[in-house]
Amino acid sequence: MSGAMALRTMPQSLLDLDILVGGMGVDISNVDLVSTVARHVSGRLSGSLSATGLTDVYARLLQLGDAGDVVGRAFDAFRAKVPALADDVELLYRRYYVEGGTALGERLKGFSLAGPTPPRDVQIFTMLATFSHVWRAKLAAPDRPVGINFLRKIERVLLYGLYGAMLAGVDWVVMGAGDPGEIPAILDDLARNRAVELPVQVATVPRGEHCIRFDPKDLVGPNLPPPPRPAFLAIVSSHLQAEALAGNPVTRPEGFVVESPVAGGHNAPPRNRLKDNQGNYVYGPEDEADLDAVAAVGLPFWVAGGRGHPLDPKASPGDRLPRQVGTLFALCNESGMEPNLRKRVLRLVWQRQLEVVASANASPSGFPFRVARVPGTMGDPATYAGRPRACDLGYLRGWRPRDGRIVGLCPAGDPGSFRSLGGAAWRTEGSMCLCNGLLATCGVGQCGELALVTLGDTTPVRDLQLRIRRLEYAADEAVAYLLGEL
Ligand SMILES: Cc1cc2nc3c(=O)[nH]c(=O)nc-3n(C[C@H](O)[C@H](O)[C@H](O)COP(=O)(O)O)c2cc1C
Repeated sequence: MSGAMALRTMPQSLLDLDILVGGMGVDISNVDLVSTVARHVSGRLSGSLSATGLTDVYARLLQLGDAGDVVGRAFDAFRAKVPALADDVELLYRRYYVEGGTALGERLKGFSLAGPTPPRDVQIFTMLATFSHVWRAKLAAPDRPVGINFLRKIERVLLYGLYGAMLAGVDWVVMGAGDPGEIPAILDDLARNRAVELPVQVATVPRGEHCIRFDPKDLVGPNLPPPPRPAFLAIVSSHLQAEALAGNPVTRPEGFVVESPVAGGHNAPPRNRLKDNQGNYVYGPEDEADLDAVAAVGLPFWVAGGRGHPLDPKASPGDRLPRQVGTLFALCNESGMEPNLRKRVLRLVWQRQLEVVASANASPSGFPFRVARVPGTMGDPATYAGRPRACDLGYLRGWRPRDGRIVGLCPAGDPGSFRSLGGAAWRTEGSMCLCNGLLATCGVGQCGELALVTLGDTTPVRDLQLRIRRLEYAADEAVAYLLGEL
């Protein structure tokens, strides 16, 4: 163990970054956005790619014709790196690539993800997709540090994604949506090509009873040199979480992202569980992390949530802390959000007509989720009510024992099957299919699937629009705005 811990040092290249683009799924913080920001001349910025849903994102990019052979070239790089999997990669590429793109209206092919441990093709394709994402970002921003964001809750593909990102030399991994206490030790072991185990949460069964086991050598062969170990940042919402993780050498990360409740995406629930009359969570000052107490933990950290305003060199030290920004970048030109949808959202922000709520039930993960009420999307109550409910991707499925088997169930799918598998009826009300919704938001949805937009506080977006007198803006303009140069 002591050897493993010796690997854990925060690289200076990461400490130099005082603004991070937050990981934003599915593929909102994409290669274009992260590499553009990372290339900024100041050297003070970079960001986290989103690893969420990449297995399907890449399968769909291939089926949509892989414009510019972007995916094909990344796959070639993987084949050169991991010769033991060259034939598998070729087969998977052929399975999904459609020259000229799948015809409009045709259903896109996915993967079979029946049980907690994914089949071999999903393991390889996840590794391949995550490798490709990091490889492409590194190619576009040479010699710059680049991170990647995973959700702890998405357990099935996590280990393969981590290893793929490491093979491409990712500089940091950042993770929230669940307790990431096992991850530092898993990164230590993967960085030695050693087998790892990830406990899978199965309802009513003690933690650790079900695990996904991954031995890199089973896939990549015995001779592949071990990949470098990235730094690990844990996403926390309170100093207590930070203290608990840092207090144990096994769970201690290199640093933290400290998220306030206004951050886009998933959040921690409010302490008093207060809800408004529509069932959305209401947060108060008691839900903000005590940043002095986090600082006392002694590890570097970036603050996130409502930090998209310009840096003021004269501001108090608390306002000048290194920060992570999401919403401002989610709506810039380089973001992975489908351009027409992005423009509609930007117009609503401009007209001050966009409401964002902290939904208690939207996310099948069980965590609160910020939903933007964009007309025509899943976040619009009228549209949501008419949506057919199905669960065909299942990244956020929960698991429970049933008749001697482990079955997966998702509250956003068919309510009848959810209940028949032992799920509580109340969980299905207002539950949204994040998998299909967020894939549609980034332009690779199935035809007919509704998009779903998550955002935090959009005040900085409107402030920037006012300054440039335009609805749309580039990532460089967002950076200039943040650095107080606009
Ligand atoms: C569109 C969008 C998607 C997000 N998706 C994720 C995600 O997949 N994982 C994650 O850890 N955080 C996610 N976040 C949170 C961001 O990484 C970041 O911490 C947050 O947006 C910062 O707050 P801000 O939105 O007020 O700038 C998301 C935020 C947005 C706006």
